[in-house]
Amino acid sequence: METQRIYLIGAGIIARQHAATIRRFPRSEQVVLSVADPNKQALAVFTEQYPHAHAFEDAQTMLAEPALENDIVIVATPPVTHYELASAALATGRHVLCEKPLALDRAQARQMLATARTHGRVLGCCSVRFLHWPPAEAARRLLQEDVLGPLYHVRFLCVEQRNRPGIEYQPGTAWFLDRTKSGGGTLMDRAPYEFGVLNDLLKPTHIEVLSAWLANPITAGMSPASERDVEQHAGASLRYHLADGTTCMLTYERASGTHSEAQSCVEITGLKGSIRWIWPHGFISNTLTHTYDCNGRVESKTISFPRPDPEDLRFGEKPLYYFYQYLQHQPSSAIVNEQALFNFSCIRAIYDCALSEQPQTVVLGE
Ligand SMILES: NC(=O)c1ccc[n+]([C@@H]2O[C@H](COP(=O)([O-])OP(=O)(O)OC[C@H]3O[C@@H](n4cnc5c(N)ncnc54)[C@H](O)[C@@H]3O)[C@@H](O)[C@H]2O)c1
Repeated sequence: METQRIYLIGAGIIARQHAATIRRFPRSEQVVLSVADPNKQALAVFTEQYPHAHAFEDAQTMLAEPALENDIVIVATPPVTHYELASAALATGRHVLCEKPLALDRAQARQMLATARTHGRVLGCCSVRFLHWPPAEAARRLLQEDVLGPLYHVRFLCVEQRNRPGIEYQPGTAWFLDRTKSGGGTLMDRAPYEFGVLNDLLKPTHIEVLSAWLANPITAGMSPASERDVEQHAGASLRYHLADGTTCMLTYERASGTHSEAQSCVEITGLKGSIRWIWPHGFISNTLTHTYDCNGRVESKTISFPRPDPEDLRFGEKPLYYFYQYLQHQPSSAIVNEQALFNFSCIRAIYDCALSEQPQTVVLGE
């Protein structure tokens, strides 16, 4: 059995969650953990919590030793650095699990995948945290059983009034509010999870973004220009092309800061019925409602799910654990390579459509 080495680039908030996941590994005490961060304070906080970690002030020095076949590098830094750090890590011959969003734009993401291919390595994205939420799993079963008939509309709505990254959420982290560092606002931060789940359930071969909009609602305490630099409310109308050749419209709306009413709903509607559940971000509900026709009457059935077992994989543990399973050739829900590029491109296509006012197309495996 080869030694499992994990290299963390960045020692910030999310890096500590990844380090905690190692407890899930077989022979976890033998996993060799290294971490690199030029920020001495972040590194000190990290090593206080994980004193066995080998600490470095830069990633290049950390990755200078020869690569082993199953080495994993996790890029856990702000989005502006993902392209450069992930590309350099792949070029050392290591698999890379990159934090979401994958990159700043589609060109960077495409180039990252090309570099992974050149070096025969896997590029994964951490956008898997919301996969396998019990209502979404029930939705998957009903879709597989074709209970809803041909699908024609999906609605994704998650409107939070005040949960802006860098303001209400993690207020000390300024890069969230600077487009040059984050690439954008609520879409870049939250949509990777949402399109991760939607694309996992619907499995489109390609999508079109037909129209899209971005807004930065004005609130008190927004005086620095940087706080208005990123969108906090966005929406899009998309056409999904499904594997069976049919199409389905998807209406997407997301807010982390808005004057609209707080709402959350994922709804998939077909000619024979619909299913609806609440997106588990800022809203808590563990039910799914199935609505259908019964002799001309509207019937609804609500399924409740027990709370997850404390021993279940937690949200924050999924990215590294799924990626490890994938590399071990075990069944895995990791989002890697073409799928990671496709999911990210769906989100960037919303920006491209909103800014150019032109429809955009994204093809899986393009
Ligand atoms: N904070 C969250 O709740 C959360 C959740 C999921 C995903 N993420 C994602 O994780 C990534 C990091 O977010 P965070 O909240 O941990 O940020 P953070 O600011 O807490 O930590 C980022 C760390 O990266 C370090 N860094 C910057 N450039 C570096 C470089 N070249 N080499 C090494 N280290 C470098 C910084 O010094 C900092 O310590 C982002 O992509 C974010 O979207 C964050």
